[in-house]
Amino acid sequence: MAKVFRATRSQDAFLHSTARYLGFIGGIGSGKTAAGSVKAVQKISQGEDGIIVAPDFPQLSRSTWPEFMKWAPMSRCTNAHLDHPYTQKKIITFDINGRDVTIFYGGIEKEQGWAGPNVNWCWFDEGGRKKTRKAFDVLAARIRVGASPQMWITTTPSGVNHWLYEVFVKKLFNDDVERALQELGWKGKIVEYFKGKTKDNKDNLDPFHYAMLTGMYEGEFALQELDGEFVSLEGPVWRQFDAKLDEGTEEFVGRNVSKRAEYIPGAPVEWWVDDGFTKGHPRVILMAQVIPPDIHVFDEYIVTGELAEQSVKNALDRCPTHPTTAYVDSSAAELRSRLWQEDIDTVSATHDVAEGIKRAASWILNGRGETHIIFHPRCRQALAEIPAYSRHPVTQKPLKVDDNAADALRYGLWTKDREEIWGEEVVGEDVYAGEKVDKRPSAPEELTTVVPGQSEQEMFASYLGRWARSLNPTRR
Ligand SMILES: Nc1ncnc2c1ncn2[C@@H]1O[C@H](COP(=O)(O)OP(=O)(O)OP(=O)(O)O)[C@@H](O)[C@H]1O
Ligand SMILES: [Mg+2]
Repeated sequence: MAKVFRATRSQDAFLHSTARYLGFIGGIGSGKTAAGSVKAVQKISQGEDGIIVAPDFPQLSRSTWPEFMKWAPMSRCTNAHLDHPYTQKKIITFDINGRDVTIFYGGIEKEQGWAGPNVNWCWFDEGGRKKTRKAFDVLAARIRVGASPQMWITTTPSGVNHWLYEVFVKKLFNDDVERALQELGWKGKIVEYFKGKTKDNKDNLDPFHYAMLTGMYEGEFALQELDGEFVSLEGPVWRQFDAKLDEGTEEFVGRNVSKRAEYIPGAPVEWWVDDGFTKGHPRVILMAQVIPPDIHVFDEYIVTGELAEQSVKNALDRCPTHPTTAYVDSSAAELRSRLWQEDIDTVSATHDVAEGIKRAASWILNGRGETHIIFHPRCRQALAEIPAYSRHPVTQKPLKVDDNAADALRYGLWTKDREEIWGEEVVGEDVYAGEKVDKRPSAPEELTTVVPGQSEQEMFASYLGRWARSLNPTRR
């Protein structure tokens, strides 16, 4: 059955806009790529050549291209026999009433590679992932032939210090573009953008995916990731991380702190490691356990001026059981080899910092007001440092101070998949219905109650089994 496109209000406005540089800036799943695809189809049916790009080829092949294929007029494609988008020559052609329409497509990893073709239109999906506006400027100069040349960007926003904000809100263009437009005698609107919210597209999203997305973020991250707003991110990186030193008891307290995060025998231990040596950049080892639905950090080992070998020994002495895995930044070659010698697997946890910050935020406090990363109060240095981890007031980039425990936290959380931790077969309502949540076994009380004749590993395994069944009561 052919798919029917029912434009949301903002998609509709976007599709009708004639501005030369156009944006659909929206939340996750708000219909950005669909809107961009349908706009491309409009241009194709008008017989105009164009360009379709994403920041890199994996993004294009995984998400932009499959969505474009839902709407593209493939019955008129003249080279459909090629294995798009994996062909060497990334060009797709259509025959529109006897007219050849050519579309160049691909990832724009290297901007200069795109300085060639002259086209009528260009669609840049997820353009916001580019840290600089170079790709935009190169592509903006490509649209120069045919009727009403247009370039559109469909993307999630990325703060008020990003080039997207400069282009769409401040409307700042480089001189070349402005001069070219003047020479062309362009009379229409130069820039226009429309905002899309995740909830606007609810009807077209899988209910579980929708529940997952909307429950994921809180505060400024929700405004950015779900409502598609340009938000100011100055101040603490994780404003929701709640840990304070109680002056009276001198203990850390707050939503992200609890003695519940004590080491649980039988459950595997992992280390989250940010390697360092100097005073400003110590070596941080956070010791963690995944205890569904939470992740516990039960201890820390933070040290300066110590050889990697010695740190591994000291941390092992401190750790109640041998860790299975260490999540480490990829630069820490010496430390990694010391970990292997101790039979600890290492996983390179390198990732895009901005993406890692968002992911960690969703564990710190999610859209349903739940906290799923908990530190034991004995992790005093991490608990002092994480709330202090801040952004530069002007660039809004995370500052490279107070960032060591924060980096280790990101490394550990980067690889954590909610669906895996919460059980694979869960369906939306089962996860989110409050009543059912209350029936879940509660770690760690259950896990620390001694059951005669059962090993610690057996206790943890049976806890995991009960946990999985509590999520999906129909499965036994
Ligand atoms: N107007 C529409 N009519 C029918 N289906 C739509 C419409 N808009 C979006 N969809 C569908 O909704 C789903 C999500 O849309 P899309 O992938 O375009 O969102 P997105 O904002 O690009 O998401 P992401 O943030 O994951 O990139 C897709 O299956 C898409 O086909
Ligand atoms: Mg998309």
